[in-house]
Amino acid sequence: MRQAQNNLKQLKSKSEISGIENLIRVMLKKHGSPLMLIRRSVLEKQFNRFRKCLPQVTPYYAIKANPHPGIIKTFVKLGASFDVASANEMKLVLALGASPSKIIFANTIKSEKDIETARRRRVRLMTFDNEPELYKIAKHHPGARILVRIKVANEGSQVELSLKFGADSDQAFFLLRKAKTLGLVPAGVSFHVGSQSTNVENYLQALEISANIFKESKKNGMPLKIMDIGGGFPIQHFDREIGINFERMTCQIRKHTKTSFDRNVKFIAEPGRFLVGPAGILVTQVIGRTFRNNKNYYYLNDGIYCDFSGMVFDHCKYEFKTLRRGQTFISALAGPTCDSFDTLSMNEEIPELYVGDVVYVKNIGAYSCASATPGFNGFPPAKIVLV
Ligand SMILES: Cc1ncc(COP(=O)(O)O)c(C=O)c1O
Repeated sequence: MRQAQNNLKQLKSKSEISGIENLIRVMLKKHGSPLMLIRRSVLEKQFNRFRKCLPQVTPYYAIKANPHPGIIKTFVKLGASFDVASANEMKLVLALGASPSKIIFANTIKSEKDIETARRRRVRLMTFDNEPELYKIAKHHPGARILVRIKVANEGSQVELSLKFGADSDQAFFLLRKAKTLGLVPAGVSFHVGSQSTNVENYLQALEISANIFKESKKNGMPLKIMDIGGGFPIQHFDREIGINFERMTCQIRKHTKTSFDRNVKFIAEPGRFLVGPAGILVTQVIGRTFRNNKNYYYLNDGIYCDFSGMVFDHCKYEFKTLRRGQTFISALAGPTCDSFDTLSMNEEIPELYVGDVVYVKNIGAYSCASATPGFNGFPPAKIVLV
């Protein structure tokens, strides 16, 4: 039985790869490279997967993962809400059709000008984690609905966020009470377990701590309504990666949300990577090759400064694939700039490549083009095409 299931899996993955490689060939002819393909069907699949696994949680797409207008429009059509980090992101999602009531300004540190913009644009929901921020919000956006972001364990997450954000949980109630005295609406609690969090315990522990804040607030006559479980939901970056099972993970989260909170509590989340990461395929081409240090070095037309920037800022590792088949050799891959830091890998098992050959990476839709530096050494980032 298991053998049959494995065979079926292998067949499916073979046909998926050939479908992707055909798409790459067609798109390359049309657009050239470097090219970031974003598959709408995968955006939709991930959104529906999230909704199915956590039906009681409203997803606010964290556009910082990839703010391309085509992606935002796709999520607007699917009925998503949005997490924005700045007034510019806010203006972008509003211009693309999102309603202000479906936006959370989820940056705990906001400039006074950005808070003003939120008031003018009628975006009322926001997060904070410190008292000075409350004074700013009270001054520029009286009546705003606020969630206190607490510091929670980020154990094993690829990107640690608790180093920079989150109030101590034992201060949360006092901060919310202070907010109320300043004329704000204390609406609930938020947390972020760190990005690419494969450790479900982070969520379960954070929910437990948050549930206690809800209880304390209720006991003191200040019932809370919104529980924001943040982002962090992990994706598979490598084909044969094990240990990432969104369905199993969310099953545990779902149980916890049901048992630890009152039934009238509204749950929201801020997924970024999970919604957009698997949709992205980066297509690059070899622009030069040499033999040094006993191996082939291939220089690609995209690198660390552009669409592989996630290797630095997102601490991400990618699986490099080629269209060429055949015997593989340990080789090095590098970007196009005059900087040796712009090296992508020193030991990829790939076939021998020639100038013009394709090297591509799947699952690279999040924190890649979003943090690219256009124009360093004169190299442009990949053209983004929704397919
Ligand atoms: C406040 C906030 N919300 C949501 C996200 C999205 O997280 P992820 O892409 O891990 O789902 C981030 C990522 O840094 C964040 O800082």
